[in-house]
Amino acid sequence: MTAHISAKPGDIAETVLLPGDPLRAKWIAETYLTDPVQYTAVRNMYGYTGTYQGHRLSIQGSGMGQPSASIYAHELLAEFGVKTLVRVGSAGAMSKDLSLRDVVAAIGATTDSAMNRVRFNGLFDYAPVADFGLLRNSVDVATEKGKTVHVGPIFSADTFYSDNAEMEAKLAEYGVLAVEMEAAALYTLAAKFKARALTLVTISDHLITKEVMSSEDRERSFADMAEIALETVIR
Ligand code: HPA
Repeated sequence: MTAHISAKPGDIAETVLLPGDPLRAKWIAETYLTDPVQYTAVRNMYGYTGTYQGHRLSIQGSGMGQPSASIYAHELLAEFGVKTLVRVGSAGAMSKDLSLRDVVAAIGATTDSAMNRVRFNGLFDYAPVADFGLLRNSVDVATEKGKTVHVGPIFSADTFYSDNAEMEAKLAEYGVLAVEMEAAALYTLAAKFKARALTLVTISDHLITKEVMSSEDRERSFADMAEIALETVIR
């Protein structure tokens, strides 16, 4: 039992998928896991453990933004012995080379968050990166499924309703593919706790073309990505 997760030791698997939305956690657990058991509902941030293809897995909602995601990632890593975290989320495309529904496997995350500046006394710009094995598995799985997957850096923003389009364009010039709000913190915490982490996102909106996915498309793409994540972690 931690401040935000009401589970007992052993209730949570060593491998956890982290959707931001707790109802997505419920959906993944009920759709893909055999005998899912809900181990927490603190603040309605649901967490489930069950079995996928014979492998024990947990799915935990993490909320939106690095402060919220850090609370769940920290407690999972520090208190529940979690070794593998895969975020499954959505992102806005910053590059014209991306389309709605594409999957991005985030090799690293740039951020405007002060969390790591505070962590490293403002002296270093730590570079949060994905676990290479998970990244490679995810690309293999997505490719086998015929899903377009882009591997590259993403931007973990602190502000959803940004008024800094110029900086976003500049980041895109420097190769940043898409914007979401959690990966940098997840990668940093995984490194701190000697665990593995990966962020997979589907493109739900496009900063350049202003397209937005319909809710049916969101569901279908989310399912595709959840399947990639599940196959990635059991490989
Ligand atoms: N910005 C930040 N996070 C997001 C976005 C976005 O445009 N789309 C999905 N998550």
